[in-house]
Amino acid sequence: PRSIWLSRHGESMYNLEGKIGGDADLSPRGEAYARSLPSLVDQSIEPGQTLTVWTSTLRRTIQTARYLVDKHGRQLPWKALDELDSGVCDGLTYEDIEAKYPEDFKARDDDKYNYRYRGGESYRDVVVRLEPIIMELERNEDILIVTHQAILRCIYAYFMNVPQERSPWMEVPLHTVIKLTPRAYGTIEERWKADI
Ligand code: F6P
Repeated sequence: PRSIWLSRHGESMYNLEGKIGGDADLSPRGEAYARSLPSLVDQSIEPGQTLTVWTSTLRRTIQTARYLVDKHGRQLPWKALDELDSGVCDGLTYEDIEAKYPEDFKARDDDKYNYRYRGGESYRDVVVRLEPIIMELERNEDILIVTHQAILRCIYAYFMNVPQERSPWMEVPLHTVIKLTPRAYGTIEERWKADI
């Protein structure tokens, strides 16, 4: 691709409560990000350029993309872009997990890339399920992806040529659009942070 645009969904009610996973709605701040996204993206495209918007199937990404889709007009939800499945820990806070599943909490800390939640996924699993997405991305132009923290870390690591084992620690903040432009000598990265 010439460039790809990446964004996490806006802050969700679960983000506010420190809970992982789930299918929560956006918080008021997350909604403000969604509303600011079209003008933020405008700063990163050519006049008149339109993007195809990919989301996960979860409410918070679809809500975040809503106004962007009104403007750019093409949207595709992918199950493969849903957040890393945290299995039995879905809906818990990290403190809950440490109290309820102390061995799992430690195992994840020791090897975050390979640790698979009970009944859920590891980062390694996510990298495998993202393969078709990466292939489609390589074939298409001008895609903006609104998805989740763990998923964006893996996509970001791929395009930045960072070994996937390091993806669990990539920094992908909320309320920021990242534009990646692959070049022969490496990928150019630009970021725009929303003022909300
Ligand atoms: O807290 C938001 C979130 O997207 C969770 O839903 C997800 O489990 C987590 O981040 C992934 O981050 P980490 O792998 O660092 O726990």
